[in-house]
Amino acid sequence: MEILRIEGLSKIFGSGHLEVRALEDINLSVSEGDLVALLGPSGSGKTTLLLCISLILDPTGGKIVFDGQTIFQKNGWAGVDMRRLRREKIGFIFQSHNLIPFLTARQNVLLPLSLVGLKGEKAESRVRELLEQMEIADRADYLPALLSGGEQQRVAIARALANNAKLILADEPTASLDTARGVKVMGLLKKIAKENQSAVIAVSHDERMIEGFDYVYRLKDGRIVGEKTNSTLN
Ligand SMILES: Nc1ncnc2c1ncn2[C@@H]1O[C@H](COP(=O)(O)OP(=O)(O)OP(=O)(O)O)[C@@H](O)[C@H]1O
Ligand SMILES: [Mg+2]
Repeated sequence: MEILRIEGLSKIFGSGHLEVRALEDINLSVSEGDLVALLGPSGSGKTTLLLCISLILDPTGGKIVFDGQTIFQKNGWAGVDMRRLRREKIGFIFQSHNLIPFLTARQNVLLPLSLVGLKGEKAESRVRELLEQMEIADRADYLPALLSGGEQQRVAIARALANNAKLILADEPTASLDTARGVKVMGLLKKIAKENQSAVIAVSHDERMIEGFDYVYRLKDGRIVGEKTNSTLN
């Protein structure tokens, strides 16, 4: 089942001689459970694309259909409660500064659950389960500052997965990790996403991190210039 469709998406920053065409004519279709990688040089539009998909940034043109609902089209917003949609259906993993520093690992993962009204033992057991899946349960009561970079990133992934988001957007989730830890973190993300049938769109600079992904798209100057599926990956 298709979870996300993007048609002719564009994003222009600024105007006149300061104009930057960050995205041009992006077309993309993502189905439930798909693992999609976005590769491309610095400045090619990867972060802009993730931010447009979650409507944190307003696209300039094109169309976005999410979970069967048109959430953006050329002539403006489609009157969708995007905050609610983000809370309930989209998980975001940022490159760094992910966690709320004064909340423990457990409380950070609990937060998105309380935002949708899940509380008490049900919420607590969901958090325990996620922290166990991410192999970080023994650090549940630590503040982020006392965790290693890889541990923090695993907590951030647990948080993004907490609400069984249908779509996980990950902007270089392993950038702050060494290769071995990065591969491990990506492995856990892939495994749980497949189990939940969540689609993942992950940005990476490092091809080793995206082994086993179903689709790989390459961005250059705001355009998709290459596309590969699993069978043609090497
Ligand atoms: N708020 C903004 N205002 C003006 N230009 C912007 C803004 N945000 C991004 N850009 C420009 O849009 C282009 C795409 O930026 P983007 O951050 O999406 O690149 P990226 O592929 O994520 O790069 P990196 O790998 O370095 O993170 C760049 O030329 C950037 O300078
Ligand atoms: Mg970026």
